[in-house]
Amino acid sequence: MKVTIFGTGYVGLVTGACLAEMGNHVLCVDVDEAKVARLKNGEIPIFEPGLEPMVLRNHEEGQLDFTTDPAPAIRHGEVIFIAVGTPPDEDGSADLQYVLAVARTIGRQLERYAVIVNKSTVPVGTADRVRAAVAEELAMRGVQVPFDVVSNPEFLKEGDAVEDCLRPDRIVLGSDSEKAVAVMRKLYAPFNRNHDRTVLMDVRSAELTKYAANAMLATKISFMNEIANIAERVGADVELVRQGIGSDPRIGYHFIYPGAGYGGSCFPKDVQALERTARAHGYEARLLGAVEQVNRTQKGKLFELIHRHFDGQLAGKTVALWGLAFKPNTDDMREASSRRLMEMLWDAGARVRAFDPEAADETRRIYGDRDDLVLCEHPYEALEGADALAIVTEWKAFRSPDFERIKAALGTPVIFDGRNLYTPAAVEEAGLAYYGIGRGRSLSRG
Ligand code: UDX
Repeated sequence: MKVTIFGTGYVGLVTGACLAEMGNHVLCVDVDEAKVARLKNGEIPIFEPGLEPMVLRNHEEGQLDFTTDPAPAIRHGEVIFIAVGTPPDEDGSADLQYVLAVARTIGRQLERYAVIVNKSTVPVGTADRVRAAVAEELAMRGVQVPFDVVSNPEFLKEGDAVEDCLRPDRIVLGSDSEKAVAVMRKLYAPFNRNHDRTVLMDVRSAELTKYAANAMLATKISFMNEIANIAERVGADVELVRQGIGSDPRIGYHFIYPGAGYGGSCFPKDVQALERTARAHGYEARLLGAVEQVNRTQKGKLFELIHRHFDGQLAGKTVALWGLAFKPNTDDMREASSRRLMEMLWDAGARVRAFDPEAADETRRIYGDRDDLVLCEHPYEALEGADALAIVTEWKAFRSPDFERIKAALGTPVIFDGRNLYTPAAVEEAGLAYYGIGRGRSLSRG
C-alpha cells in the first residue's frame, strides 16, 4: 500500500520503517530540511536498536523515502499518518498546533479519498478537530473529497521501538467508518499473522486508551516509589516487597521497579495532559495529580541522600554519575532524572563527572561546555577524583561492576544506587557505603 507519514520523530520514523519493512511504499514528510537531508543520506537522527539498518535497507530498495514537500506526499498516500509532536504548552496541556497544521495542509491538497490517521498522542476530541480542519480547507477550495479520520495510538517504548512496532501487543483502531477500518485492517494484516491483535472502538475511546495506558504505568511506578519511601522509614527492603507483590499475577512483575523517578517524552507529559483534560471537563483527577507529585519528589531523592550523607557540605565535592539517559538503550534526555540531580548538585556547588553509553552528546547539547560537568568516555574514568558514585540509569554495563576498583578510585567510598542494581551486602562487603531506594537502612545511615 502507499503510505504517507507526517513527522520523522520516534513514532513517525519507526512506524515508517516498519511499514516499509512489511512491503508498503512509505513517504515520510518533515518540515526540518536538515533532518530530511540527513535521512536521505542514511543518517538516523536518533539512537534506536535495529532502526538504522531497517531504514537504510528500505531506503536503498526504494520502499522508504523522505521529503520536505507535502504536495507529492499527500498525492502518494492512501493512508496518511499524522505523527508530529504534541509538546506540553505552558499549562501542561498537549499543544496541538503541529497536528492541526498538518491537517490543514492535507485539506489544502487532498485530491482523492484517504484515511487520515492520528498516531501522535493527542487529547480526546482531537480527531474531531482534525476532521473539522481538513473539511474547512476542502470547503475553502470548494471541492468535495471524501476522507476519514482514524485514531491509532502508538504504544512503542524507546529502546524497544522497532520490536514493539513489528510485534505489537495490540493495534487499537478508533473509527466510525467501515471503509476506513477495512483500509487499516489491510495495512496491519502482516502484523496480525498469528492472531488478530486489533482492538476496534470508537474514536474517543481510542484516544483515551493511550492516555489510560501511560497513566496506569506511571501510577504503578509512583506507587512503588511511595512504598519505597515507606520501606526505608520502617526498615524494610522494597526489593523484597516488590518480589512479594509481583508474584501475584493480578499485580505482575512489570513496571513496579522503584527508582529515581520516571522520565521520558511520554509519562510526565501524558499524565499532566490527562489531568488537564479531566479538569477541562469539570473533573479533578486527584490520583493523577498525586502520581505526578510523587514523581517530582522522587526525582530529588538521589540528591537528598547525597546531601544528607555529606552533611550538606557539597561545595567543592565531585559526584560521578553512571547513566544520564532517562532509561537504558536510548540517548533521550527528556525529563531524565539525571538532569534534576545534576542541576541540584551544581546549585549546591558540587561538580559532576558523568558516563553514559549513548547520551553524552545530547547532554553536551543541552548544557553546553561548563566547568562543573565532565563527560567521560568510560565508566571508571568518571570516578577519577570523585567523592561518590551515583547510579542514575540502569544500563546493563553497570550491573556487575568491579567494586574494588570503585572503592580505590573514590575519595569517600560510597555508592548511591538510584536503580537498586546492587545487593547492599555485596557492596558493603567490598568496603563501600551503600544507599539504595527504599532499602531499609538508607535513611538511618545518613
Ligand atoms: C512509555 C510507554 O512504555 C510506551 O508504551 C508509550 O508508548 C510511551 O511511553 P517510554 O517513554 O519509551 O515508553 O519508556 P518506559 O520504558 O515506559 O519507561 C518510562 C520511565 O519509567 C523511565 O524513566 C523508566 O526508568 C521508568 N520506570 C519504568 C521506572 O522507574 N520503574 C519501572 O518499573 C519501569
